[in-house]
Amino acid sequence: MIKMSFQSREQALHKTPPQQAPDAKPVPTLRDRSAACSVALVGFGTVGRSVAKILCERSDGALRLTHIYNRNVEGKKQPWVPRDVIWTEDYNAILNSSADIVIELIGGLAPADEFVRGALQAGKSVVTANKQLIARHGPDLMQLASSKGCQLEFGASVAGGVPVLPALRTGLCGDRLHGIAGILNGTCNYILSRLESDRIPFSEALEEAQARGYAEADASEDLDGGDARAKLSILALAGLHVRVAPADIRARTIRTIDAVDFDYAAELGCTIRQISRAELREETLFAEVGPSLVPASSPFGRVQRNLNLVLTSGEYGGDMAFMGAGAGGYPTAVAVVSDLMFVAESLSAGPREHRPLQLASPKVSCDFETPWYLRFWVRDQPGIIASLAAILSAHQLNIDAVLQKPGFDKNALPFVITLEPCRDSQLHPALQQMSTQPFALRPCLALPILR
Ligand SMILES: NC(=O)c1ccc[n+]([C@@H]2O[C@H](COP(=O)([O-])OP(=O)(O)OC[C@H]3O[C@@H](n4cnc5c(N)ncnc54)[C@H](OP(=O)(O)O)[C@@H]3O)[C@@H](O)[C@H]2O)c1
Repeated sequence: MIKMSFQSREQALHKTPPQQAPDAKPVPTLRDRSAACSVALVGFGTVGRSVAKILCERSDGALRLTHIYNRNVEGKKQPWVPRDVIWTEDYNAILNSSADIVIELIGGLAPADEFVRGALQAGKSVVTANKQLIARHGPDLMQLASSKGCQLEFGASVAGGVPVLPALRTGLCGDRLHGIAGILNGTCNYILSRLESDRIPFSEALEEAQARGYAEADASEDLDGGDARAKLSILALAGLHVRVAPADIRARTIRTIDAVDFDYAAELGCTIRQISRAELREETLFAEVGPSLVPASSPFGRVQRNLNLVLTSGEYGGDMAFMGAGAGGYPTAVAVVSDLMFVAESLSAGPREHRPLQLASPKVSCDFETPWYLRFWVRDQPGIIASLAAILSAHQLNIDAVLQKPGFDKNALPFVITLEPCRDSQLHPALQQMSTQPFALRPCLALPILR
């Protein structure tokens, strides 16, 4: 079953108050409240500017922007920001202000960590979009917020404007989730879907992504999986209630993917995407990030360009899907403002009881059992298949198919062997042995096939 959020931005931001029975006592709404929640914005960049714009254009008076903090703040000032908003480059001015909620949008670990802790210590609730901060320090910060009777929301830190974290917090908290998988990095998805559509070289797709602003000059965090595994650790925290450090999640790079892999994947009815997946089985969290074969007709196979998709699997509710813009100023700002509205509503209900966090710390493993796609680049000579088959057989690995496309130079020939399901740990020693054969021009590429 697919649950999509196609609510318009207008609807999301200006909810109609619920209908009341004529004799019911009026329920105060955000719109009625004379004392608006005051909000300090920390970081006036791509997302911060969009958040400020939405807050300044809102007319319901529920959220009042009082401060904007940024370094070199003089150069940031905008004429559309109301005159009574205080611009500052002194963070103490935020801590000492009467702001109820601080929005942290400077990004990175330092000084964002110090800023967020300082705000929570001062009794202010915090909304952040900072995945690095939450992936590394989320549980501690949540604990701190709870101990101070404050709230910490980070709905925009994964999948930008796609409301998957709020869904985990509310819409799905009645289920017991055991699996989360997603396309969480728009840069990788853009590059892989360009290789898929036009069979261009990897380097050309990367340059194009950089020219269009979808990839940074140093795109290592995206390409090598660092960004996606930070997001996966946040999804595991929010949905599976486990504490997992990003560094404990194996990340495989997409730099090893060639256009020819899409030809072979297509022969198998598949395409290639960077997939982040986490499955909780008893005491173990199976988790990894990396390029994987997925059926071309599956939800993952159909995600194009820089969109994000997250699928969740629950014991009672089954599978759910969430898709949309994973980045961009306004989509991410909508997620931030939605968090703000949630926090403002909660604060109006009075102080919260301190409840210790219930998080498990399972063993983390990448030893998934799947069928595999193995791609070799070899200098052709008689007996290659026999040598590889002997190595695979010695490791009790069963070949499912051998694929070889015609027309390649015999001095640099790509071909593929697919394997029946086996564990990653079973395959690994065979890969090392196969990659050191004299005919191997490059290490063998191994991709899981996710059905
Ligand atoms: N952009 C997206 O699509 C997106 C999507 C999801 C989540 N996020 C997250 O949202 C957060 C903000 O991202 P962004 O794209 O808006 O970043 P950005 O455009 O780089 O904006 C960051 C702002 O913070 C300021 N800043 C940075 N470090 C500072 C410091 N030490 N002291 C004072 N000001 C500082 C920057 O000032 P300068 O202009 O002087 O550098 C800039 O105005 C990040 O955590 C990011 O991961 C972004």
